Amino acid sequence: MMHSSCKFLAFYIGAIISLNLAQAETRVASQPAMTLEAVTSSQPRRDGIDIKAGAASLRITALRDDILRVRITLGRSFPEDASWSVLPGPRSKSVDVKTTQDTASVGFRTAALDVRVERTPLRLVVRDLAGNVISADAVGRPTTFRMGGFSVHKTMPGDEHYFGLGDKAGTFDRRNQAYSLWNTDSGTQESIDPIYKSIPFFLGIGGGRSYGLFLDNTWRTWFDFGKQARDSYSFGAEGGPLDYYLIYGANPKQVVEGYAYLTGTHPLPPLWTLGFQQSRYSYMPESQIREIADRMRAEKIPSDVLYLDIDYQDRNRPFTVNPQTFPNFSGLVSDLRKQHFHLVLITDLHIAHAPNQGYAPYDSGEAGNHFVKKADGSEYVGIVWPGPAVFPDFTRAQTRSWWGGLYKDFVQDGVAGFWNDMNEPAVFDGPGKTMPLDNVHRIEEPGFATRTATHSEIHNIVGLENARATYDGLLRLRPDERPFVLTRATFAGGQRYGFTWTGDNSATWNHLRLGTQQLLNLGLSGISFVGDDIGGFNGSPEPDLLTRWIEIGAFNPLYRDHTTKGSLMQEVWVHGPEHEAIRRRYVETRYRLLPYIYTLADESSRTGIPMMRPIFLEFPEVFTPPSNGFGNLDTEFLLGPSLLVAPQPFAETMDDYVVSFPKADWYDFWTGLKAAIPPPEPSIVQISNDIAKNGPGTQYPYRPFIHPTLDTLPVYVRGGSILPLQPLIQSTDETPNGPLELRVYPGQPCSGSLYLDDGHTLRYQHGEFLRQAFTCQSDDNSVRIKFGARQGTYAPWWKTVEVVIYGWPSAQANAKLSSNAAPLQTSYDATQHALHVTIPDVAGEAELRIGD
Ligand code: NOJ
Repeated sequence: MMHSSCKFLAFYIGAIISLNLAQAETRVASQPAMTLEAVTSSQPRRDGIDIKAGAASLRITALRDDILRVRITLGRSFPEDASWSVLPGPRSKSVDVKTTQDTASVGFRTAALDVRVERTPLRLVVRDLAGNVISADAVGRPTTFRMGGFSVHKTMPGDEHYFGLGDKAGTFDRRNQAYSLWNTDSGTQESIDPIYKSIPFFLGIGGGRSYGLFLDNTWRTWFDFGKQARDSYSFGAEGGPLDYYLIYGANPKQVVEGYAYLTGTHPLPPLWTLGFQQSRYSYMPESQIREIADRMRAEKIPSDVLYLDIDYQDRNRPFTVNPQTFPNFSGLVSDLRKQHFHLVLITDLHIAHAPNQGYAPYDSGEAGNHFVKKADGSEYVGIVWPGPAVFPDFTRAQTRSWWGGLYKDFVQDGVAGFWNDMNEPAVFDGPGKTMPLDNVHRIEEPGFATRTATHSEIHNIVGLENARATYDGLLRLRPDERPFVLTRATFAGGQRYGFTWTGDNSATWNHLRLGTQQLLNLGLSGISFVGDDIGGFNGSPEPDLLTRWIEIGAFNPLYRDHTTKGSLMQEVWVHGPEHEAIRRRYVETRYRLLPYIYTLADESSRTGIPMMRPIFLEFPEVFTPPSNGFGNLDTEFLLGPSLLVAPQPFAETMDDYVVSFPKADWYDFWTGLKAAIPPPEPSIVQISNDIAKNGPGTQYPYRPFIHPTLDTLPVYVRGGSILPLQPLIQSTDETPNGPLELRVYPGQPCSGSLYLDDGHTLRYQHGEFLRQAFTCQSDDNSVRIKFGARQGTYAPWWKTVEVVIYGWPSAQANAKLSSNAAPLQTSYDATQHALHVTIPDVAGEAELRIGD
């Protein structure tokens, strides 16, 4: 039986809508709202189910046992099945399901999920196989189509928390907030939305459940986690397809992996991109950047990357160099390279509108018809840095290829990487600081129907496709080098092409704090290689703030000091020797940790698990009673599985504070001493004032309180970790000299790994890498460290390995390596409770036994 309101709508909509392709054309102002009231018929499919609900059609497909795709449309045919974000492979694969049906619902089961669509009122309810509801349409708030757009409401359990949506500012947990996704050159402020990026993916976690939801829609979308309603969250778009993916995971890590399965991962970046980076808007003239390079080396600040912002260009024209201020550009690039710096250049997407002036990017772009058009078919010109500018139409494969070719000369000069800014796209004189919504883009793209599309549809993916064009172009120009692209705007899937940063933050303590939640949320949104402007972009940081930021940034994936025009200089040395010494020590720590950090980068590039992780990614129980109520979730973070970074949440105060430790043994990274011993219950150790008052001799013998000092950022290592470190180097060009250090922090379970390759080519894809896993077992008087057999053919730089065992009680120790019967020399550091033993490099399986 068709519901009466649907009957009316079936007639009405059938008459006015052709739903095949661009839903852009379906934005009919007078169209009344249409709601999905009841299932009118259903048809099982091998991999899911088709449902009719009056004039609307639903298709639910099980792409994997744990990933569902939900498509809902007005009419009988679904919009074009193409995506800028979801990879073709995952989109075309699906699994067999078992159809289910009863009087109340129709649906199916996979090996992980029970999917039911309740007939009246129509509600999609997804459960795990134990019957726990994972996601359900809200009662009394049916899915609605209105004016070419739609809205979907889901129930919002009281214990559920929401993360993701890229680097949206404001709060870490998205609950009780609402967001609009529309790439905007906004600046970064806690209260500002929308901002530069749109990642319509979020993670829901709470009460033992975890799942993700990705809305694959490039139009202006919105998400409301309880602003409008107390018990339901909602999302929607102003146009485009209603096409979303539900990703189930037994824990949040599995959800993040599922999202990476759909949208891809960042390719392994060059090692140098994980070093320290120094930037400014703008180092100019040439002599200034040379001075910065010299001073970096003279001051022994380990570093790998220098940036040139827009002022190196001739009249702000992308792909030019100002010959007056940079008279010997190629010489500069090669001289910097000799000093072991990689140069990154900004290349904004706007091309100066400069006809008949011999400006090749304009002339060749014009010849190839590569620029975006206005609704009347004429070329769109908007004002940006160069003055009047035109905008490449990146949704054309040919245009991307032309754009990629523009890098030829810079690449020939040896420029190492490129920075795509302003690609929301920002237009100073355009409506809403972008281009008119009725501007016309052309989609000429494998996997898509060839057609035109309005800017409303394409806006949010301009940054994504700009970065893609740069990435692919660089790969063509230097086929054996890993590209480095830094983009400001992006969309879901942007991780495939580049790093990103959080845009124009400010030199304030609040923004130091805000950066952490933004980077964590970006990581949860699939984008692992991220950073913020260290020291803040707008304004000039007070000395303590810059010092703290450099300390925390050492544990962020992208480590870049950047500031705006007119601000004070912001390099490591600017506030005098005391600050510089502290800052240098943190940059040095970063370089010592590079083997661990690069290993995380490799893992992230394969799995999508972010390098920088919120506590709950490793310890999901922090959201489950009795452990919920965990403190500092938005300021503490993990770098990889092992390092817990716990800054003072209100760092400007220097007040004492407490660290929340998830349940594990924790060692102080700096002193090597045990930091906290977890009590049996509750599973979270919140070192509280009460415990502190009890003084020494309680179960928290060490540091019950943090008394912050400027020179120490509290960092802890999870017991059960094996961390690889290297001798200090001044840049990643330098081969470390000395043993590889393996720091063993006993605990259960205990493991670690190591990844290494040449750091910049693609040879790792052909076996030229080194990967090795370690495990350890310990009891009160012994530790056994197992070395797994190495994979790959890459030869290490070390000949010996210095194993350091923390938490070792005394100098007494017998150490033996299974491959060598002779006892090994050990030494003991009584202050650190650390036993040191140096062994020859171990490539095959071996065991190091240490007993007393
Ligand atoms: C805006 C970017 O966000 C900023 O990082 C850059 O310095 C300026 N544009 C100038 O290019």
